[in-house]
Amino acid sequence: MAGEGMIPLRPGLEGVPVAESAISFIDGKRARLSYRGYAVEELARKSCYEEVAWLLLRGELPTQRELADFDRQLRSHRRIKYRLRDLLKCLPETGHPMGALQAAVAALGMFYPARDVSHAPTNWESVIRILAKMPTIVAAFHRLRNGDDDLPPRDDLDHAGNFYWMLFEREPSPAIRKVLDACFILHAEHTMNASTFAGRVAASTLADPYTVVSAAIGALTGPLHGGANEQVLDMLEEIGSVENVRPWLKEALAKKRKIMGFGHRVYKVKDPRATVLQELAEHLFAETGRPKLYDVALELERAAAEELGPKGIYPNVDFYSGIIYMSLGIPKDLFTPIFAISRVAGWLAHWLEQLQNNRIFRPEQIYVGKPDRAYVPLEERP
Ligand code: ACO
Repeated sequence: MAGEGMIPLRPGLEGVPVAESAISFIDGKRARLSYRGYAVEELARKSCYEEVAWLLLRGELPTQRELADFDRQLRSHRRIKYRLRDLLKCLPETGHPMGALQAAVAALGMFYPARDVSHAPTNWESVIRILAKMPTIVAAFHRLRNGDDDLPPRDDLDHAGNFYWMLFEREPSPAIRKVLDACFILHAEHTMNASTFAGRVAASTLADPYTVVSAAIGALTGPLHGGANEQVLDMLEEIGSVENVRPWLKEALAKKRKIMGFGHRVYKVKDPRATVLQELAEHLFAETGRPKLYDVALELERAAAEELGPKGIYPNVDFYSGIIYMSLGIPKDLFTPIFAISRVAGWLAHWLEQLQNNRIFRPEQIYVGKPDRAYVPLEERP
């Protein structure tokens, strides 16, 4: 029942602003994405994740001293308590690592209570802890579920290099480190997407930042959002060969299947992050070898451009990220957790921004249920 003066329903809140934000900007027609005014392509090529995280959180590029200090703080907070490791050990090894990440981040909030969100120094400590510990949690869960000991973080490696080390117990080559770092940058923030909105809704209740981030992680798991990168690889494996792309696509579209890694609520052209990722992938393949699935992906992009391009449906960020991670030897179910450990910089920036001018989110609904009626006692019901 629409109330008097009620705004008409916009499914999925399409086109409805829910906050003012100074963190990132998308021009979906011109394939532009910027963080605090800086083009994401330039950041991916020239910056590093630590610097981008600072930029998102603080609004400006850091000075050399600020960056060195921030980096030092991140390195010194990477370790996780043994009881948190015990928690990870108790989780089923067949469970999805996003579940483990969400549970562990929520549990972190019990180890480091931060319920007074009006205290700026405590908020900043939480930011550092969450950013620094999420990669450790993901790597530890992955190793523990395989029956291996988790590896303590290495303070002499940067954010991306250390994550790679904790997964594989070997240092990445400079090209691999660069590609992983750039993936972190490209996934770090993306305006008011579903997980960021989920985080901001939780933030608006003045929940602590661990709860805010775990709410955002939950929203990221779905296949229409962060979970798509895993499904892209399943789809490319199902297609199997370049020759099969066009018949597969025809059948998939006839059955009204969604082509994973394609389409975006905001971009009606190719996602600029997909373009940079593709460039990075080609550099990486010079070192790791060109996977067959990459050629399948290129052919799918070409074929889909003919079928879906007229509707403004082009590859999004998830289309190429999975192929990059696969060629680094990263298992499929870690793709979305890697998205989360990147995006957490954006989530935390939105958390801090929400607190600056907070009002609890409490939207309306349009009631479509039964009108008022009298209760019928159980014994009188037919
Ligand atoms: N394959 C085929 N058709 C598509 C696709 C796709 N990937 N995406 C949209 N369409 C079609 C829909 O079928 C619909 O067609 P219709 O008007 O004939 O019914 C039309 O385009 C509009 O689609 P919606 O789903 O309503 O668009 P919306 O803006 O709500 O959804 C979304 C955007 C969820 C990303 C969608 O494009 C999709 O499901 N893509 C596949 C999953 C994916 O890659 N998600 C990752 C997004 S990026 C990220 O979260 C990091």
